[in-house]
Amino acid sequence: MHIHKYEKWWLVFGCATLVAFLVILAIGAFHNGTHPNEGKITVDYENVDSIKPFDNPGVHKVEGKEWDYEVVLVASAFSYNPNEIEVPLGSVVKFYATTRDVIHGFEIAQTNINMMLEPGYVSEYVAEMNKAGEYLIVCNEYCGTGHTYMYGTLKVVD
Ligand code: CUA
Repeated sequence: MHIHKYEKWWLVFGCATLVAFLVILAIGAFHNGTHPNEGKITVDYENVDSIKPFDNPGVHKVEGKEWDYEVVLVASAFSYNPNEIEVPLGSVVKFYATTRDVIHGFEIAQTNINMMLEPGYVSEYVAEMNKAGEYLIVCNEYCGTGHTYMYGTLKVVD
């Protein structure tokens, strides 16, 4: 088949434009898309259980920091460890949370505390416990068949 000189030129130009478009698309997608957590602390989520501080989940009293307690929490399908958190009224609490499998949510109902827990990343949140009561912790990211049953409790005691 004989292709006219100009037709050939346009064909090359068309392909080049397409390639350029795909490259721009790819840069755009990967540049922003796969790094939503720049600046966040990373963690090897498959070995979370042996990495500090996640090797010791729970509520820990601390001294000399801007907060009084540290809550170290590991989420997994379909529970939180610890499942029940108890802190004194008026204390400042820093949450360090991560997941050992898929994306989970960590939302404490009736508070501003709402974190997304992503594999490989540590989510942090500092909050003052200024209202006594029992709060429901819910997973607000769909994580599988047990998602609906994934919850915990936060007790702020006087
Ligand atoms: Cu965990 Cu939904």
